[in-house]
Amino acid sequence: MLQVEQTDRLTPEADEVLIETNAIGVNPCDVLRRQGLWDDELPLIPGSDITGVVTDVGTHVTAFEPGDRVFGTIPHLNVSGERGDRQGTYASAVVAREDRLATLPDEASFHVGAAVGLVGITAWRALFHFGDLEPGDCCLIHGASGGVGHIATQLASLAGAKTLATAARRNHSTVERLGADTVLDYADGELESKVNAAAPEGVDLILDHRLGEYIQLDIDVAAYGGSIVAIGGNYDQPQILDLTAAIGKDVTIQPMDMFNEPNIDAVLQRLAILLSSGELTAKVDRVFALEDAKEAQRVVEEESVVGKVVLEP
Ligand SMILES: NC(=O)c1ccc[n+]([C@@H]2O[C@H](COP(=O)([O-])OP(=O)(O)OC[C@H]3O[C@@H](n4cnc5c(N)ncnc54)[C@H](OP(=O)(O)O)[C@@H]3O)[C@@H](O)[C@H]2O)c1
Repeated sequence: MLQVEQTDRLTPEADEVLIETNAIGVNPCDVLRRQGLWDDELPLIPGSDITGVVTDVGTHVTAFEPGDRVFGTIPHLNVSGERGDRQGTYASAVVAREDRLATLPDEASFHVGAAVGLVGITAWRALFHFGDLEPGDCCLIHGASGGVGHIATQLASLAGAKTLATAARRNHSTVERLGADTVLDYADGELESKVNAAAPEGVDLILDHRLGEYIQLDIDVAAYGGSIVAIGGNYDQPQILDLTAAIGKDVTIQPMDMFNEPNIDAVLQRLAILLSSGELTAKVDRVFALEDAKEAQRVVEEESVVGKVVLEP
């Protein structure tokens, strides 16, 4: 159950700041968590993404001072069993460790700041930390209209990769504007042959959010030495029917979790540079009041969203 309650405001510890929240990003993992997937101790305040203004700082905080606009993502959710940080972000005031945050550039709205953290770190880790994406590489991004996909498409394009993307047909023009060289309809039944036609020498890096559905296709379209970075999707039922191509091409399959990123602030700072220059943005499809978080989560779970859903306290 998800409901709004009054709680005592937390005081920042030495390495924490207190943030007056302006906007909160909603992520699929918030929904999974509400559904009990991670066996949390209840009650808890959900949510990872936040933007707002710093109102108080702990004694050891050096990066921020009251009045600073910040954005960030809090690994409050921790699938490996650790409890993570003290508090989630679905709240009007949030304490967060300073290394979960970066300065939100003036050029970026609070909505954009709330939308970019978790998905931006996911895309960055997948493309650059695990995928070693280089200019000239060919990259395939599944689900390019979604939260992670729409940031990954922009980053891959900015990095100089030839960027193939999949999206529902109605979102193709949006994904093209994000920088994809080729946008393919994931539902048209000819995806593999169309990827092969667009990338005859194979795909160097594939960002897959539905691994159970696409792993065989990924293997088949991968270039020699290609990488598949998996962020989600039926890991218990991966449909690998034929491993021959994977072995023959030395394909790497790398599952990853963005909450394992040890330097969240460093990645956020890089995203902030791109937000500041206007080379990167985050699309906000719908905005809900914090009181309507339940409906916002229903939309994220059941409806097609371009970019992100955001809450306002
Ligand atoms: N491992 C990690 O660290 C990590 C981090 C973030 C997210 N995730 C996971 O990654 C997944 C995506 O997250 P997200 O925030 O990007 O979700 P999202 O915003 O809901 O986006 C989902 C995307 O999938 C597309 N899609 C729907 N059906 C599809 C199909 N059959 N084939 C290909 N694409 C399809 C959607 O397109 P349409 O709406 O146009 O149909 C949409 O673009 C979720 O499972 C999430 O839990 C993992």
